[in-house]
Amino acid sequence: MAASKKKTTTKPTDAITLLKQDHEKVRGLLGSLENATGARREKLLAQVEKELEIHTTIEEEIFYPAYREAAKKKEDKKLYYEAVEEHHVVKVVIPDAHEGNSPEQLKAKAKVLKELVEHHADEEEKEMFPRAKKAMDKEELRDLGAQMEARKKELGA
Ligand SMILES: [Fe+2]
Ligand SMILES: [Fe+2]
Repeated sequence: MAASKKKTTTKPTDAITLLKQDHEKVRGLLGSLENATGARREKLLAQVEKELEIHTTIEEEIFYPAYREAAKKKEDKKLYYEAVEEHHVVKVVIPDAHEGNSPEQLKAKAKVLKELVEHHADEEEKEMFPRAKKAMDKEELRDLGAQMEARKKELGA
């Protein structure tokens, strides 16, 4: 039997660390996208699209439902509904970022996309994740992290 060359992590990353790592990656890509043109822009945009598709999927399938379940206060649940709506807006805007008549228009579209995603990621990091940490114990967060890690692989991350 050949030894598996697959990278295995001994300790699962907790859910919040994993999601924050995704955010950092996308922030970096969006920062480069704003000033990119031509083929490089298309390549970066495709990467952003793929990263966001995977990230929003694992949040919507795994993290958000667990958060909603754990969130007891009205204010905490409100964050869940807002987050789902913001994902929807990002998904509407992304295809449009490919279309533009002028470099100025393309740049503006990249900027708006970046602002939308940053606003959403900041809100998760500053509001939802701290509340999730209070509402769920460490074991649960590690378990969610492991589930999301596995789902990311399935989705081709
Ligand atoms: Fe999100
Ligand atoms: Fe997120």
